[in-house]
Amino acid sequence: MRGTDRLPMGADAWQESGRKEKSMADTADTKENEVGDIGLIGLGVMGRNFAINMADHGFAVVGYDRDAEKTDQLEKERSGKHAICTSDDPAAFCQMLRRPRAIMILVPAGDPVDAVIQALEPHLEPGDLIIDSGNSHFTDTDRRSARLEEKGLHFMGMGISGGESGARHGPSLMPGGTEAGYERVRPILTAAAAHVGEMPCVAYMGPRSAGHYVKMVHNGIEYGLMQLIAETYDLMKRALGMRPDHLHSVYRRWNRGALGGYLMEITAAIFQHRDDATGRPLIDLILDEATQKGTGEWTVADALKQQVPTPTIDAAVMMRHLSGDDQQRRAAANRFQGPNPHFTGDREAFIAHLEKALHAAFIMTYAQGMALLRKASQTYGYRLDLETVARVWTGGCIIRAALLEDIQAAFRDDPDLANLMTAPALGRTLQTHQVALRAVVGTAAGLGLAVPGLMAALSYWDAYRSGWLPANLVMAQRDYFGSHTYRRIDAQGTFHTQWEA
Ligand code: 6PG
Repeated sequence: MRGTDRLPMGADAWQESGRKEKSMADTADTKENEVGDIGLIGLGVMGRNFAINMADHGFAVVGYDRDAEKTDQLEKERSGKHAICTSDDPAAFCQMLRRPRAIMILVPAGDPVDAVIQALEPHLEPGDLIIDSGNSHFTDTDRRSARLEEKGLHFMGMGISGGESGARHGPSLMPGGTEAGYERVRPILTAAAAHVGEMPCVAYMGPRSAGHYVKMVHNGIEYGLMQLIAETYDLMKRALGMRPDHLHSVYRRWNRGALGGYLMEITAAIFQHRDDATGRPLIDLILDEATQKGTGEWTVADALKQQVPTPTIDAAVMMRHLSGDDQQRRAAANRFQGPNPHFTGDREAFIAHLEKALHAAFIMTYAQGMALLRKASQTYGYRLDLETVARVWTGGCIIRAALLEDIQAAFRDDPDLANLMTAPALGRTLQTHQVALRAVVGTAAGLGLAVPGLMAALSYWDAYRSGWLPANLVMAQRDYFGSHTYRRIDAQGTFHTQWEA
């Protein structure tokens, strides 16, 4: 067992207590029965993998799911060395946990989380800790924290990223809630999290919903990066006519350079994958309709509220919506003609431009996410440390990438950095790569291929670095039709003009 002062049960003793479990509901609540270091509710794939991960590190885990098939599945998947047992009764489950209890919930966001909390509450005591590890909306987390803390319970909203494999082998963890609550489970989370070198990809994010907010923005960035990669795929497929094998080698090469990261790695792997049934590249058989659970949309909605521009993330959400309306798209495709999408220039030079354009747009997507976190931290009082956020994202999560080390360094050098684009090293990259981004966006526009993410990134850069914007005309129009007033460059105060003679 690593990093905890609680001694775990040996696997034998644990199995013995597991055997006792069935009768525990009707026996007295004795301390000998309290064998679990942590409880886990929701034994879907993520829950089962995370349970085994924690047990791998020597922690005794009690799993609960009202679906007996899932508890049986965990029993099958765990090995004899794992101190894991399961229960199908909330009361017995709670009795099996050491007090004060720590219970992690991994069920779908929304009503299921409230239902689980409601079922647990009668069996809990002040001081117990509930950890919601789903992708809950941060306002739900605030509501739950306030209610449960009134009852003397600790509540932690924790972002967890890394999918099934991350849950099993080390995810990135973004816990919020109270610091005292975090300290209680820190050894378990530290052991179970991904590690980059010696550093665990977990840290206390801040009070109340800070952890879920950070995870929401992680997902917003995830949407942005995925859309940008998809746009480069579209250009290489439709403009250059490249086949999956060739695409595989390009993304694999990019993954070895500045664009390296998990999303690039899986993109390369996807293009290599052949369908079992047909032997064809599987990518060519997948319907072009991107669905979503909504975390990207939440990011964009709160960014609008915070008045923080997140244009590549907005474009990514918009494209998921647009892709979903495939009937309308196909009807319009039959009706309207665009330019010939075939690229006739220097192909290798274009691919080299794509790599640099993607690099620049990636930086800007992280910059938008970080700018949103910075503002939200002020609005909601999270006191986020952006260097720590970047560090927690360097391993285990979906957006882990080489670039995050540069981002972490940028916030280490200047914790008050207003926008990542102005960090010296990243700014230099943008300054040079803008040429490639401009070339790619211009080419795509000429060929009639939609690249809203890349275009949004370029406009974001051009607007951000512009000492003058045409907002004076907007103000004149507002004043013209609504007497909304404007400010002048040559005098203090607000002014209104009688525009119509
Ligand atoms: C992660 C993922 C994870 C999940 C997304 C998918 O960090 O492990 O982001 O949270 O796969 O929720 O999101 P969409 O369904 O919205 O694409």
